[in-house]
Amino acid sequence: MENKKQLSPEGISEPESYYFELQASWGLTKHMGGLNATRELIELCYIDKDSYVLDVGCGVGITACHITKEYGCKVVGIDLSEMMVKRSKERAKRKGVEDKVEFRVGDAQDLPFNDGVFDAVICESVVAFPKDKQKVVSEYARVTKPGGYVGMNEVTWIKTPPPELVEYLSHAMANVEFLTSDGWKELLEGSGLTDIVVRTYKTNALSQWINEIRELDFRDYSRAWYRFLPMYIKSPALRSWIKEIWLPPKSVFHIFKYFGYGIYVGRK
Ligand SMILES: C[S@@+](CC[C@H](N)C(=O)[O-])C[C@H]1O[C@@H](n2cnc3c(N)ncnc32)[C@H](O)[C@@H]1O
Repeated sequence: MENKKQLSPEGISEPESYYFELQASWGLTKHMGGLNATRELIELCYIDKDSYVLDVGCGVGITACHITKEYGCKVVGIDLSEMMVKRSKERAKRKGVEDKVEFRVGDAQDLPFNDGVFDAVICESVVAFPKDKQKVVSEYARVTKPGGYVGMNEVTWIKTPPPELVEYLSHAMANVEFLTSDGWKELLEGSGLTDIVVRTYKTNALSQWINEIRELDFRDYSRAWYRFLPMYIKSPALRSWIKEIWLPPKSVFHIFKYFGYGIYVGRK
């Protein structure tokens, strides 16, 4: 392990973390539906200037900085990856919101907060990754104040996918496991949340690509190549992972036939 770490300038160490570490290095994390979906989540969780908000799996801090800037409220972003947290802090500084938004490393499965602290706990494309999804959503409910909201945006199967597609995505995307809208809804119900709202959407490659370009920080992106190339050259494990995901099953080219995204909100 230590050996592998030395191969990478920014600490890429295990195949499961390549997906996130490369995204952090590119300065871009994503969720389906882009800013429009984020706005919908904010609205359904009744976030305003007085809210205290937790953004779990904050990635490079795009949503946390956006909420702080637009609504003027206090936001905490946490992420499992140290590099994501570093990128988030850099973003907050660039956006001039570092006094209102705080970023720290933390695990969604064991949130480092007392019970009933936040008015809203949100996450975008996060619960799909940890194994114990019910534990994660129960943690969200635990740290939410009575009367507060838990809101998630998660990739959602809208048609049964071929098994090879499920397997490919899991390997390429850090053991990801998507659910149907019923599956996501059951997690909110299983955490004792009420007044549940479920909205599912289809999307397509073009609109996803446009969302990503809009949110991309071009300085981060160009710097990423300088970070990525030495990692690629020095790490055989990274090269072999890239080679494997380079040849996807044919169903990947029709992926939007099988999945879209859903906004899922419940009240404590
Ligand atoms: C697909 S990215 C989405 C990031 C961000 N929410 C966005 O919309 O841009 C998923 C994020 O969840 C984080 N993550 C995965 N598992 C986690 C866990 N157990 N606890 C906290 N964060 C986690 C990853 O490090 C990554 O930053």
